[in-house]
Amino acid sequence: MNAREMIASLREELNRHNYNYYIKNAPEISDQEYDAMMARLIELERAHPECADPNSPSVRVGSDLTNEFRHVAHTVPMLSLGNTYSKDEVAEFYGRVARALGTDFEICCETKFDGISISLLYIDGELAQAVTRGDGTTGDDVTANVRTIRSIPLKLRGDYPPRLEMRGEILMPWSSFERLNREREANEEPLFANPRNATAGTVKLQNSSVVARRGLDAYLYYMLSDTLPTDSHYDNLRFAKSLGFKISDAITRCRTLDEIYAYIDHWDTERKNLPVATDGIVLKVDSLAQQRALGFNAKSPRWAIAYKFQAERELTRLESVSFQVGRTGVVTPVANLAPVQLSGTVVRRATLHNEDFVNSLDLHVGDMVYVEKGGEIIPKITGVEIDASKVRGDKVQFVKTCPECHAALVKYEGESAYYCPNDTGCPPQIKGRIIHFITRKAMDIDGLGPETVELLYNRGLVSDVADLYDLSLERIVSIERMGERTAKKIMRSIEQSKDVPFSRVLFALGIRFVGETTAKRIAKAMHSIDNIMTASTAELLAIGDVGEKIAESIQLFFKEERNLAIIARLREHGIKMEEEASQSPQGDKLKGKSIVISGVFKHHSREEYKKMIEDNGGTCSSSLSGKTSFLLGGDNIGPQKRVKAQQLNIEIMNEDDFLSLINEDND
Ligand code: IVH
Repeated sequence: MNAREMIASLREELNRHNYNYYIKNAPEISDQEYDAMMARLIELERAHPECADPNSPSVRVGSDLTNEFRHVAHTVPMLSLGNTYSKDEVAEFYGRVARALGTDFEICCETKFDGISISLLYIDGELAQAVTRGDGTTGDDVTANVRTIRSIPLKLRGDYPPRLEMRGEILMPWSSFERLNREREANEEPLFANPRNATAGTVKLQNSSVVARRGLDAYLYYMLSDTLPTDSHYDNLRFAKSLGFKISDAITRCRTLDEIYAYIDHWDTERKNLPVATDGIVLKVDSLAQQRALGFNAKSPRWAIAYKFQAERELTRLESVSFQVGRTGVVTPVANLAPVQLSGTVVRRATLHNEDFVNSLDLHVGDMVYVEKGGEIIPKITGVEIDASKVRGDKVQFVKTCPECHAALVKYEGESAYYCPNDTGCPPQIKGRIIHFITRKAMDIDGLGPETVELLYNRGLVSDVADLYDLSLERIVSIERMGERTAKKIMRSIEQSKDVPFSRVLFALGIRFVGETTAKRIAKAMHSIDNIMTASTAELLAIGDVGEKIAESIQLFFKEERNLAIIARLREHGIKMEEEASQSPQGDKLKGKSIVISGVFKHHSREEYKKMIEDNGGTCSSSLSGKTSFLLGGDNIGPQKRVKAQQLNIEIMNEDDFLSLINEDND
């Protein structure tokens, strides 16, 4: 078998296993075998750029080339559906259809997926384009990102129509959503309120390799083609399943209203067991000929309707409002509620977000309020039930001073939140910074926890992170109920934290907006705290991930005398304030060479390769020209770059060859 045949066979095998896994739920090989096959394909494709294919299964890993979202007009507008909220309204729809058709009909019942709608165009069985709904007439071309979604076929199986548009919903399953929010919480990034928002944010990400890791899924529910096999929407969806599309199993055909009601009732509870969010039921006249006869009105089809589930909500009493102060000083109003059962848990508190939100509800203490969970992580208050016969309590007022330290609160331009500016004297801010410093992803001082920090702080033993390194065994033992063993463990893990690499120290310092990933990037680009302290705005902005907000926050942090003093003390205690000497060889092997980096790499990040090139005397350039010595190419080099490299006769070097080139004679 030659390389071309080998590549073709691997692609076919991988597509088949992908289908078995994501569509049939019946994998035939282990994940490791799949990964090994994928690695083999990527290796072969890299060695044979002439075999490139935008629908090769290797595109599932995404690329870090910046996406451009072209606007694309829909050939057939993407309409929305009329909404109904009660069985009576469903009966009205059924009656309207019956009268208009004047003959027998069937209704195809489906769950209504709560994600973002997408149109997928397949030409000759290959995914050619994926476009978001946009305003219904024009959407964004998100093909590169959609290609990373494993349940969306890149090539169709069987006897597909030559041109087929499939419409459906991209979703983030609950499990992916929860994992993403856990990561974001650890990185102090704002959480997504629900899977729909997370999906919308992900589909529009610039970097498809990040999309690939977010674990999106897709269900398809609408077909457009001149050559569909049957007149039944239901049967056509079954056919679509045979082509490799993920079609929901929760689809049934009903004849009578009672059957439709039974379907609604069943899925109103059963949907809680589905892996993705649903917010209702969609009812569609099954026959395509009947659909055509019914037609459309301005905004939606006459042959279909959505029935929306009642968001689970309960009425309860607002007992009081408290104000919480976070590590950054942000003050959040929290509603204390009379305990109430909601979706299986007892709810006692709900966030009120900020002053604007409180005012928009016109809340008074003692009001009866509606709490909802509907897909949101934190219960929220969605309305007030006012009893005109009762006198209302006091209007909820946003505090003007910090509930913890009584400093006057401030508001920053462009933000709706209030902050306590007393970062040096406000206990929750001080404790919050120490608690952040010791967390696993930061300094990982696992002997300590929030409760012990509280005790140490109350005892006056620590009031900033550097104080942790002045603790002695005797002092820790002096805390009531603190055993010597625990104290020793604390001392040991404080000592061990001196080995924590600089990137995590940088994260641990708690600079606003500098999460774990950003800290890593900054550390890699700047190498030491001294470089960061003295970096100009332009230098900071040149680091991937760092925008103006982050750059400004970094500079503010290092303007504070107090922060500089803490850093000096940490440094004295032996905390790492620079990256370890790089393992990569240094020399002049690449002297005078101009190199362009493109694609996704396995062994090192782009920044690392950039540094290696510079450490070896070469320079990096972003675009190919006659001066380019070679292109260091990873997976998924942009097609334009590849063509240009071929035109200019520039060698594409893979990362293994590159690494052996700079490692020669260095062992
Ligand atoms: S059919 C012409 N079926 O709901 C009608 N839509 O408010 C095409 N949706 O924009 C839509 N699940 O994003 C259809 N099983 C389902 C659906 C569904 C979710 C979404 C879709 C549409 C919106 C309508």
